[in-house]
Amino acid sequence: LEYLGVSPRKHEENGSVRKGLNQKPLYTSDAGHPISDDDNSLTIGESGTGIFEDVHLFEKNAHFNRERVPERVVHANGTGAHGYFEVTHDVTDLCKASFLSEVGKRTPVLGRWSSVTGETGFPDTNRDPRGFALKFYTDEGNWDMVGNNTPVFFVRDALKFPDLIHSQKRNPQTHMKDPNAFWDFLSLVPETLHQVLITFSPRGVPDGYRHMHGYGSHTFKWVNKEGKAHWVKFHFLSDQGIKNLPHERAVELAGINPDYAIEDLFQNIEKGNGPSWTFKVQVMPLEDAPFYRFDPFDLTKVWSHKDYPLREVGKLKFDRNPTNYFAEIEQASFSPGHMVPGIEASPDRVLQFRLIAYDDASRYRLGANYLQIPVNRCPFAKVQNYARDGPMTISDNGGNKPNYYPNSFEDLPRPDPAQPGVHPYKHDGGIMSRTPPKKWSEQDDYEQPRTLWQQMSAEDKEMTAKNIAGHIQGAKETIIQRQLGVFRRCDESLAKQVEEMLAVKRKSQDPYTMVA
Ligand code: HEM
Repeated sequence: LEYLGVSPRKHEENGSVRKGLNQKPLYTSDAGHPISDDDNSLTIGESGTGIFEDVHLFEKNAHFNRERVPERVVHANGTGAHGYFEVTHDVTDLCKASFLSEVGKRTPVLGRWSSVTGETGFPDTNRDPRGFALKFYTDEGNWDMVGNNTPVFFVRDALKFPDLIHSQKRNPQTHMKDPNAFWDFLSLVPETLHQVLITFSPRGVPDGYRHMHGYGSHTFKWVNKEGKAHWVKFHFLSDQGIKNLPHERAVELAGINPDYAIEDLFQNIEKGNGPSWTFKVQVMPLEDAPFYRFDPFDLTKVWSHKDYPLREVGKLKFDRNPTNYFAEIEQASFSPGHMVPGIEASPDRVLQFRLIAYDDASRYRLGANYLQIPVNRCPFAKVQNYARDGPMTISDNGGNKPNYYPNSFEDLPRPDPAQPGVHPYKHDGGIMSRTPPKKWSEQDDYEQPRTLWQQMSAEDKEMTAKNIAGHIQGAKETIIQRQLGVFRRCDESLAKQVEEMLAVKRKSQDPYTMVA
């Protein structure tokens, strides 16, 4: 309306409702024309056929036909909420990010929680890792923390990601989940074992999204004002405590209430009982990394808390449900590449690719101007650059200003050399190749899953073995035997317990349990 010299959308700004001649809120077409009848389509004669002139009929249905955007290729099934982050402990010795600059500082945050392999509408209680994505709207731009509810991941090289996901989604012919593909891939890629054990342990089916921890999972770099850097790992510990769903209850809920986790979060926030998480970090001096007993950037490993204890940073609290799910959650776009000064990446091979993968997915899912969608725009850090045009441009598109740089107009945006650049980090300067880090062949990949298994209570061990058996029984014998070999290399007793449970399952002729 500004183009027309009219003050912008007065009727929308002051919240007033456009009324009809009957003084009731007026129903309009998408272009704003008054609609007199929304029950009867336009025809010639009482029994006549419809006619082209019924533009409203066509518009209403044409818009309906275009209601869907592609769902996320992974993490499609989820939900989200608004809240805030508050700094409770001074960490300025570690990180110069402005949102961490003083105790008590609050930053608005959007959260989205999800499961990974099911489509939208898939039962919330399926056995799967859970996504834990946060968008901090800071005065230096958005920081997106796109993590999971597990501190590790299945693979440590991004090249394997599409195969991992294909093996856990639907079979190309049957269009069903496929235990053969699932266990074929996992048994051929034993680095997956740590994540597999967590996923099949009781933690593999959290009781809703409030009762699980969140992790950045990767190693990141924090840089302070003096330019000193540390490697860090992010932990978001649930203040509600950990609660998991037993197998039988999860299976039951998948039928009774497939939206169990979505409902649990929504209702608790409505009741004023929104969840909170305590943000802590593990901190490793840069100098330690080359000498740590395994590759500290390997995403299949955790850092020992004895070596690197948790240090508290602040509190995350979610207290507001979205007003409109599609606008605020479905259209939300998170990217590990959205970082603010003071937060940087590590050489983790999965993280490095994730830095660019998510914006690529958003361009496909939401269109080239996805960052103009209100929920993705940072309200505190104005965007000023020379990018222009593209489908669904809804900003002023730079108005009449030049669209190139360098230019000779001093009042236009230009890079500021005084801004701190990235922290200079010396890579080993090796030869370009497809070689894994030397440490990967030296380290014991079975050590951490073994410790995890050995530290489980007898009850958790039994449940983990039972959950694995219930799922793997759907696979071919050769694949089962290969995976049992992986379990055996980890711990004889793990393989033995799974075998025993498999024998019980086979006798009982229970169906293969894909959901939980
Ligand atoms: C979603 C790729 C590993 C957490 C996605 C999406 C893609 C993707 C394409 C959909 C994005 C969208 O359409 O908006 C990858 C690749 C990975 C990888 C290529 C490995 C190479 C991981 C890891 C984590 C993770 C290791 C956690 C530590 C998430 C979460 C979402 C997501 C939480 C959902 C974000 C939301 O709520 O919108 N991933 N991913 N991913 N990924 Fe990953």
